Amino acid sequence: MSLLEWRDEFRIGIAEVDHEHQVLIGLINDLHSALGAERSRERVEEFLGEIFARISAHFALEEKDMQARHYPESGAHKADHEQLLDDIRDIMDEQSERGVLDDEAFSARLAAWFTDHFKSHDVRLHRFLQTQR
Ligand SMILES: [Fe+2]
Ligand SMILES: [Fe+2]
Repeated sequence: MSLLEWRDEFRIGIAEVDHEHQVLIGLINDLHSALGAERSRERVEEFLGEIFARISAHFALEEKDMQARHYPESGAHKADHEQLLDDIRDIMDEQSERGVLDDEAFSARLAAWFTDHFKSHDVRLHRFLQTQR
């Protein structure tokens, strides 16, 4: 089973962006299936590190566009990105202390954050970028 199913709430209605978000979620799921059930502390750490890197890379692209087009809400948008990255760092710290990953809690956290963030910050940003073309 996938860590994170694609859901309608993730859709923002701009095909290109929805596609990028689908790819991101696909990558997260691929990493999760590669992790499998045989989990050493090191492998889980590596898994979380990769997730962190993929998500950061997506954020970095958006942040580059925000800067290039002088997006007026970039401060709040970036702060929300940082919030998720902080949460993932906390999960990583907790994991290295306890040595276990709670898949359900991790999945729920990501789903809740993606739903909120895509529908608010990402919709506003990408509509703004569309008007700038
Ligand atoms: Fe974003
Ligand atoms: Fe995004």
